[in-house]
Amino acid sequence: MDKIIVLDFGSQYSHLICRRIREFSVYAELVPYNIPLDELRKMNPKGIVFSGGPSSVYSKDSPQPASGIFDTGLPVLGICYGHQLIVNNFGGKVKQANKEYGSSLLSIDNDSDLLSGIGKSTRAWMSHGDAAETLPKGFEVIGHTENSFAAAIANRQKLIYGIQFHPEVVHTEKGIQVLENFVLNICKAKQDWTLENFIDRTVSEISKIDSNVLCGISGGIDSTVAALLIQKAIGNRLKCVFVDNGLLRLNEEKEVEEMFKNNFGMNFTIIDAKQRFLGRLKGVTDPEQKRMIIGEEFVKIFTEFAEKNGPFKWLAQGTLYPDVIESGVSKGPAAVIKTHHNVGGLPSWLNLQVLEPLRYLYKDEVRKVGKILAVPTDLLNRHPFPGPGLAVRVIGEVTPQKLQICKHASRIVEDELVASGWYDKVWQAYAAVGDDRAVGVVGDERKYGNVVMVRVVDSIDAMTADWTRLPSDILERISNRITNEVEDVAWVSYVISSKPPATIEPQ
Ligand code: XMP
Repeated sequence: MDKIIVLDFGSQYSHLICRRIREFSVYAELVPYNIPLDELRKMNPKGIVFSGGPSSVYSKDSPQPASGIFDTGLPVLGICYGHQLIVNNFGGKVKQANKEYGSSLLSIDNDSDLLSGIGKSTRAWMSHGDAAETLPKGFEVIGHTENSFAAAIANRQKLIYGIQFHPEVVHTEKGIQVLENFVLNICKAKQDWTLENFIDRTVSEISKIDSNVLCGISGGIDSTVAALLIQKAIGNRLKCVFVDNGLLRLNEEKEVEEMFKNNFGMNFTIIDAKQRFLGRLKGVTDPEQKRMIIGEEFVKIFTEFAEKNGPFKWLAQGTLYPDVIESGVSKGPAAVIKTHHNVGGLPSWLNLQVLEPLRYLYKDEVRKVGKILAVPTDLLNRHPFPGPGLAVRVIGEVTPQKLQICKHASRIVEDELVASGWYDKVWQAYAAVGDDRAVGVVGDERKYGNVVMVRVVDSIDAMTADWTRLPSDILERISNRITNEVEDVAWVSYVISSKPPATIEPQ
């Protein structure tokens, strides 16, 4: 399979570059900016993209790619910081310039394979404080804006290109065309990344496993699709375990059991571990500690199951690409935002190898794979749910009372969105609860109860999210129902923070 490697210099859009390239059926992978040259060569890419990033190339600790990267002979496209790296590396000058933020008119100066098909000018999205002042030898300007004389540059002989604008964001009108020109015409990558191919390749890889595989099932789309791929490869050597940790949505344990028994014909065991999890979480308030405890408890349960029912050599999970990146395990510059329990919580004593067939997929790609594998539509469209469950939606100590509030209030939020046709339009919708309490009046009685936070967000891949502008009549119904139907709730609030700077889950 042909692939494009994107070096991540820390831009919040690095992921988007990969996604856009995959959208036209070429496989793209994000790797840390300083990946050693021999590792990069082993990946056998058709071309390299340098992402943007927050640094200045002239500052002392600016992130640099492996030396020798420009001698590989591979085509390179530098975006924003990546563009400035190229200028700097070949002896041009980059300096602080007038900030250019937002949409600019890009004028095309010369015919070039990178900007072909774009016309004489187009709107391009910029976000930079530094700019090229002089160009290195061998490079020519192929596009400029009012503030950047070298907004697009090319070294045609070496196939090295730089653009100051961001082709990956939707505000750049011809951004996809620029990426396609680079990937298809300059790198000559084949468009052979399809999800059907992904399934065939993954199944054939997994078929090489000659032992039993234990798969943790959460009831969500990711672990279900992971299990289906493994089942396709090794049949009943796959044993699925569903752990009821007491942190699930209302009645979810029963729904998952029914779905698996009725649909997939898998070897499926349910372990009731409610007391075990809730016992260990008693008195714990720190969010990262909660995540670590839950991750550890899951692995202990899987290991115990494996010892009793084994031998197993493999533990499978439905980890996705954004989980891998956000947990910092890719060792790129993306800071550890949260430790996703299925990535960061695996302790060193685990003596099972980890199998993560979806670790390079985004959520929408997993849904498409699920559709190809005939996963029931209800499950395909079910909102994502965090691995550590309601422990991250209950702020502070996880108590039975707060869990009940969270479960019932979330069910009301979901029901009202389904009833009004909004459920499938939003990414996630739930209610969270903390220790804050407020005063209300019910009948003629004073009531002192918890504050519930309703969170509904729009997102494409969970990397960024915006709060959903729900019509006020729906919000009103949700609020009335929660205060009337859920015990111990006095106030309902609506969360209007986007990601970034907030995250989707409160903890
Ligand atoms: P955040 O809160 O980080 O969430 O913006 C992004 C997406 O990931 C889900 N999430 C998790 N999923 N294990 C998971 O499998 C986790 O530990 C975890 N934490 C958050 C969250 O629901 C959202 O869809």
